[in-house]
Amino acid sequence: MKVMVLGGGGREHAVVHAFSRSKITTELHCCPGNPGIAKLALCHAGDPCDPKAMKDLCTWLGIELVFVGPEAPLVAGTADALREAGILVVGPGASGARLEGSKAFSKTFMKKHGIPTSDFDLCTNLAECEAALKKRSAPYVVKADGLAAGKGAFLPETYDEAVAVCRMMLEEQKLGTAGNIIVVEDYVEGMEMTVLALTDGKTVRILPSSQDHKRALDGDKGNNTGGMGAYSPVPWVDDVFMKKVTDEVLTPTLKGLEADGIPFCGVIYAGIMIKPDGSLSVLEYNVRLGDPETQVVLPAFGGDFGEAALACAKGELCKVEWPGAVRTALGVVMASGGYPEAFEKGYVITGTDEDVPNTFVYHAGTKLDDKGRLVTNGGRVLTVVGLADDLPTARERAYARIAGIHFEKEHHRNDIGDKSLKRGK
Ligand code: GLY
Repeated sequence: MKVMVLGGGGREHAVVHAFSRSKITTELHCCPGNPGIAKLALCHAGDPCDPKAMKDLCTWLGIELVFVGPEAPLVAGTADALREAGILVVGPGASGARLEGSKAFSKTFMKKHGIPTSDFDLCTNLAECEAALKKRSAPYVVKADGLAAGKGAFLPETYDEAVAVCRMMLEEQKLGTAGNIIVVEDYVEGMEMTVLALTDGKTVRILPSSQDHKRALDGDKGNNTGGMGAYSPVPWVDDVFMKKVTDEVLTPTLKGLEADGIPFCGVIYAGIMIKPDGSLSVLEYNVRLGDPETQVVLPAFGGDFGEAALACAKGELCKVEWPGAVRTALGVVMASGGYPEAFEKGYVITGTDEDVPNTFVYHAGTKLDDKGRLVTNGGRVLTVVGLADDLPTARERAYARIAGIHFEKEHHRNDIGDKSLKRGK
């Protein structure tokens, strides 16, 4: 099949890598891609958030299957335009993408369909925000309704800070239209984990479990980021736990979508908090794979991801073999110094080209400069992955590989996977 992957980050590099290993792939394309992806796929300039441009590009190339990586093109309706052109797509249309694109929609959806989530209020002015905050105590949870590039969720520690955050969104419009509705919700304590699943709307297949590390610094200190590292599978996640997630979250989500007349074919990412009493609370849905979770989940997955994606797009997911995780992968993000706040770009990157067995270097914020050198071009620059039969070896391989990669002001966490290693099964 002629396959197109839309996007150009570390997640898309891992997806392209998985398709490059798949027996269904005869030709591999990516838009816009990045220098790492360009070694595996033909990259095309273009904006995945422009549905008509993507339809024209894919039609012109004779693409048969499209995998949409990021959320923004899904919210913009790119999957709808491709399907209208008769192309198979993994990724929901704009109506299903509201599960991620509107927190007001997703919280209301969960409440309506009995999916466990914290209590919440939707506010459209400051007086409503103040009333919602007064019903709660610190730490407060305040979220923008719309997509805000990972910058729309706040955990203010005082009432005054929480009001200031609401004012910043509602009155100063710092997040644009994403902040026109504010979700004020109860804080949930516990252990957070990611569940990624493919669904064709009828069948749901869970990908290997993974755990992200969201804070910038070791020991879960520092600012919240898009994710500084992950590993898969998570040793303490067993079939009993996954059955609970399926019964209480995934199956009710599919039933809710069906009852509301929303077609959904693609990825469901459930960010789940496991509360101290063992009960679950869904923090958020996303409608795409996680980044950097994908960079470890796909190498750990024992099946042919291309075949799984094709079956998903055709509505035949029930027919596909599903071996789950057969290896262990651990990935560490190498970031630009300063990320997630201001950082500089343009530093030369060395050491990514060596072929080191059982390691992968997935590109995100990289580009070739006018001299053809690989340079930094974003906050999260690379995800370096070690693959093994166990977590300690995967960790060792990832960090040994990192030691050979350099760019100025590089920053990474040194404790990815440590909590799990200490905790054991
Ligand atoms: N790593 C978190 C996310 O992809 O949203």
